[in-house]
Amino acid sequence: MTKIIDGKQISSQIKEELRDRVSALRSRGVEITLAVIIVGEDPASKVYVNNKKKACEFIGIRSLSYELPETTTEEELLQLIQDLNGRTDVNGILVQLPVPKHIDEQKIIHAIDPKKDVDGFHTQNVGSLCVGQKGFVSCTPAGIIQLLRRSDISIAGKECVVIGRSNIVGKPMALLMLQENATVTVCHSRTENLKEVCKRADILIVAIGKPRMITAEYVKEGAVVIDVGIHRDENNKLCGDVNYEDVAPHCSAITPVPGGVGPMTIAMLMNNCVSSVEA
Ligand code: GUN
Repeated sequence: MTKIIDGKQISSQIKEELRDRVSALRSRGVEITLAVIIVGEDPASKVYVNNKKKACEFIGIRSLSYELPETTTEEELLQLIQDLNGRTDVNGILVQLPVPKHIDEQKIIHAIDPKKDVDGFHTQNVGSLCVGQKGFVSCTPAGIIQLLRRSDISIAGKECVVIGRSNIVGKPMALLMLQENATVTVCHSRTENLKEVCKRADILIVAIGKPRMITAEYVKEGAVVIDVGIHRDENNKLCGDVNYEDVAPHCSAITPVPGGVGPMTIAMLMNNCVSSVEA
């Protein structure tokens, strides 16, 4: 029987736990504030930002919303970040990505005070993760570790294959799995014999950004498959990077799309916000 990993349920449980932590903090007079910045009109980004604000409300975190026009200059955005860095009442700063093309994304990420970088994108936080020190961890990979742990899937000693090497998902995912004592392989667009490499995986984490690309041919019998992708197919139906119908019967456990990895990202963002004041 294939176990379907319920990210909605697990993320709800995490958010309930966070609500309790926030309420305990509040009784000690500690408030948490997250500043959320969005530049431009990208519809998907707007949905994500709204969901982040709603999660803040549910957990008891104050959110400050900065909805800036597409024409905002890099200097203006940097100035806003500097102001927020200097505010003692702001604990977390999040700039929704992507930013418009005339703004240098790396410059923006590195302008955020690493202690307020609840996305975990600043090189100081990435470096801390790399050497196993405390710091903010990128939310989607951190959420995947929670999905595995809370589904009683052991990681230590397992063959883990990560497909995708982005700074936000693939690379931090590989570092986290290594920290959990997995044997880790990172695959990407230039990997030769991708199917053969993936077939070695006890835990296959897919973040390639190609709808339904991973079929049963890539998956070892009994593997755990984690699908990070989210797309709309030709019938406007949501799907992942994994061909779910084809792959699921061969897995011991699999995340669905929607309702798998997606809801975990926001839960872990909230976790980072709470951690920012508990340290
Ligand atoms: N765009 C896509 N995913 C993310 C994320 O996790 N954080 C931010 N800031 N932007 C994103």
